[in-house]
Amino acid sequence: MDKELVIVLDFGGQYNQLIARRVRECNVYCEVKPYTISIDEIKELNPKGIIFTGGPNSVYAEGSPNYQDEIYNLGIPILGICYGSQVVAYSLGGVVKTAPVSEYGYTEVTVDARSVLFKNLDLDSDNKTVCWMSHTDYIAECPSGFKSIANTPNCPVAAMENEETRIYATQFHPEVMHTKEGIRMLRNFVFDVCGCTGDWKMDSFVDTTITQLRERIGDGKVLCALSGGVDSSVAAVLLSKAIGKQLTCVFVDHGLLRKDEGDEVEEVFGPNGPYELNFIRVNAQERYYKKLAGVTEPEAKRKIIGEEFIRVFEEEAKKIGKVDFLVQGTIYPDVIESGLGKSAVIKSHHNVGGLPDVVEFKEIVEPLRMLFKDEVRKAGRELGIPDYLVDRQPFPGPGLGIRIIGEVTEEKVKIVQEADFIYREEIKKAGIEGLGQYFAALTNMRSVGVMGDFRTYDYAIALRAVNTSDFMTADCSDIPFEVLQKVMTRIINEVDGVNRVMYDLTSKPPGTIEFE
Ligand code: XMP
Repeated sequence: MDKELVIVLDFGGQYNQLIARRVRECNVYCEVKPYTISIDEIKELNPKGIIFTGGPNSVYAEGSPNYQDEIYNLGIPILGICYGSQVVAYSLGGVVKTAPVSEYGYTEVTVDARSVLFKNLDLDSDNKTVCWMSHTDYIAECPSGFKSIANTPNCPVAAMENEETRIYATQFHPEVMHTKEGIRMLRNFVFDVCGCTGDWKMDSFVDTTITQLRERIGDGKVLCALSGGVDSSVAAVLLSKAIGKQLTCVFVDHGLLRKDEGDEVEEVFGPNGPYELNFIRVNAQERYYKKLAGVTEPEAKRKIIGEEFIRVFEEEAKKIGKVDFLVQGTIYPDVIESGLGKSAVIKSHHNVGGLPDVVEFKEIVEPLRMLFKDEVRKAGRELGIPDYLVDRQPFPGPGLGIRIIGEVTEEKVKIVQEADFIYREEIKKAGIEGLGQYFAALTNMRSVGVMGDFRTYDYAIALRAVNTSDFMTADCSDIPFEVLQKVMTRIINEVDGVNRVMYDLTSKPPGTIEFE
C-alpha cells in the first residue's frame, strides 16, 4: 500500500518520536530517520514533508550535525524544530547566536496569524499564545527569503517561514502538550503546507500486516514471546490470525511479574482462553533470581533479563523443533529509545537494545515495530481483543526487576508485589480512572521506624502514579490524599519488611516513569 509519508530527521533530541506520533495522530504515516540519511534515500522514500528535530548541539560547533543546500532544493516542505530550526537558519545563511537569555519552559509567544503555520489558532486578542521553549542558541537573523513569523521578548525569531520554498522553522516545540496550539500548528504544516490528506488508518494496517505475515512466514514455525502485556498480546493475536496453529506462544514467568499475573495470563491465552494458540508457560523464577543475584546496575539488570528471555525461548524452540521465526511485541518507541535512531540512549529496552548476539532463530518478526502505543491499542480493538486487555496499563519487559532499586531478591520481589497489589486494589476501589501508569516500587532505602513498642529498620516503598498520553512526558497524578493514606496504612500493616511509604511527585522530564 502506497501511503503518504512524512519523515522526521533525528538530530538527537528527546521529543523526536513525539513529533512522529503527533503527525500520525493526523492520520499521516510518519517515520523517524537519522539525520545522516542520504539525499538518494530521501528521494526514494518520496516524503510529502520533512521535519528536523531538536538536538543537544550548537550549529556552529565543529562537527555538529548540519545540512548543505541539497536537502532544501528537493522541493519538499521542511519544518525545523528547535535545533532543527537553527540548522535551517544556519545552513541557509541566517545568523545563529548564543541567546543573551536562555529560555526554558512555558513562554509567551506572539505569532503572525497570517502565516499558514498559524492558521485557525485559538490566540489571545493580541496574537499571543503559550509555547514550550528549551534553548540556549537562537536565530538572531533570518536567512534571505525568510521572514520572522513569531517572537518572544527574548527571541526575535521564534518562528520563520519562506512561503515560496515551503520551508518553516519554530524555535519552540509544537509537539509537546505545553505548547497550547502546537498540535494545530503541526496539522497546518502536514495538511496545508505538505498537502497530505490523512490516509493512515488502522484497519488497513491490520489487513496489510496479516497478508504480509502470511507471505513472509509461509508454512514456517513461529514462536511468540508473550508477556501478557498489550504489545505482545496484540502481536500474538495478529500472528494467530495470520498463521493459526503454526504459532506457539511462550510465556516466561520470570518471577518479576505483578502478583497473580502469571495465572491471569494463562487464563486468557491458555487452552481455556478464547484464542486458538499453542501456549507454553515456563516457570523460570529461580533461574532469574540466580542470574540477578548481586547485580545492582539498572542497565546490567535489563541486559540480564533480556538475555535470559532469549535463552529460555531458544530452549523452548529446540523442544518444539525447527522454529524459524521469533515474534516480539517491540513497538516504535522501543526502537527509537534504544538508540537505533540518533537520540541519546536513556534506557535500553530489553526487546531491542538487549538482544544477545547469538540468536538461534532464522529471523525475528516484529509486526508492531512501526506502531506507537495508542496505535497498538487501536489495532488490538480492530482484532477484537477485549478492552480490558487492550487498555491495560503498560508493564515493562524487565518487570519488577526495574521497580526494585538495586539488587533483586525473591524477598524484595514479594514485598513489592504485595505493596503494588494493595495500591492497585485501593485505586480501583476509589474509582480512580484514566491514570497513565501507576505502581509501587521498592526503594533500596531502609530507615528506622517504630511499630508497637519496637524499633523497626525496614524498607521504604515508593508509590508512583503519572498522567501521560505518550509516556515521553508525564506529570505526577493528583491522587486524593485519603486514598494515599489508606494505601500507606494497609501496606505498613500488611506487608512485612516495610515501615515507610512515600509518594513520588517527580514529572518526566526530569524523572523517568520507572525508577530505573
Ligand atoms: P520510562 O521509565 O523510560 O518509561 O519513563 C516509559 C515507558 O516505558 C516503559 N519501560 C520499559 N518497557 N522495557 C520495556 O518493555 C524496559 O526496559 C522499560 N523501561 C521503561 C515504562 O513502563 C513506561 O511505560
